[in-house]
Amino acid sequence: MSKIIDVHHLNFSFGSGEIERPVLKDVTLSIEKGEIVLMTGPSGSGKTTFLTIVGGLRQAYHGSVQVLDQQLAGSTEQVKISIRQQTGYIFQQHNLLKALTALQNVSMTLEMHDTMTERQRLDQAAAMLDAVGLSDRMHYKPEQLSGGQRQRVSIARALVGKPKIVLADEPTASLDKQSGQEAVAILKKLAKESGTAILLVTHDYRILDIADRVVELEDGIIRNG
Ligand SMILES: Nc1ncnc2c1ncn2[C@@H]1O[C@H](COP(=O)(O)OP(=O)(O)O)[C@@H](O)[C@H]1O
Ligand SMILES: [Mg+2]
Repeated sequence: MSKIIDVHHLNFSFGSGEIERPVLKDVTLSIEKGEIVLMTGPSGSGKTTFLTIVGGLRQAYHGSVQVLDQQLAGSTEQVKISIRQQTGYIFQQHNLLKALTALQNVSMTLEMHDTMTERQRLDQAAAMLDAVGLSDRMHYKPEQLSGGQRQRVSIARALVGKPKIVLADEPTASLDKQSGQEAVAILKKLAKESGTAILLVTHDYRILDIADRVVELEDGIIRNG
């Protein structure tokens, strides 16, 4: 399995009939194991929609969407769950739970791995927070952390389950230049160490240099696959 994500002739519209609005138009894109692909493009061009389809979070499209050798189009809920379990998500807003510490936010992700004990989950989460440079902030809650630190917690949360894929939607949008570059540099280092494929949507041109490949989505069409 070298192609982790393999999308062919994907078409997706919001609405139907007279109000049908095509958002993705014949999108074809493959991502290999360990590859870091950045998708750029203007606001409204369909980037988030594409990410949610590949992540198994959105249905009702036409075309072939193969993820981790499984066909997502028309798949059962079981297939989607299996793909979601092997995918780490990072969003523009960090989406951390306010009432929980960094350590608890990260270890919570591991609860779906029911073969692990509580101790193992906490140890693995602590090791991942250490890897993103937050070993001295593990017991802080999100509001006690800076924006860059929060985004590093969300990177740790996305990677702690050793996913095969990371899907990131504008992860640096709320960060200053330096914090943004630091966050994606950490993400890249950890992903390369574990062979994780990354699809990162951004219109932050300051981070394009972390990519193995940059593709542009414009008005639902891939300009340079
Ligand atoms: N839930 C929705 N219902 C209807 N239209 C939507 C919905 N979500 C997004 N859209 C429209 O689909 C287009 C693509 O949106 P999106 O994928 O969020 O673009 P991007 O992430 O590139 O900014 C936009 O025109 C947006 O207004
Ligand atoms: Mg978006």
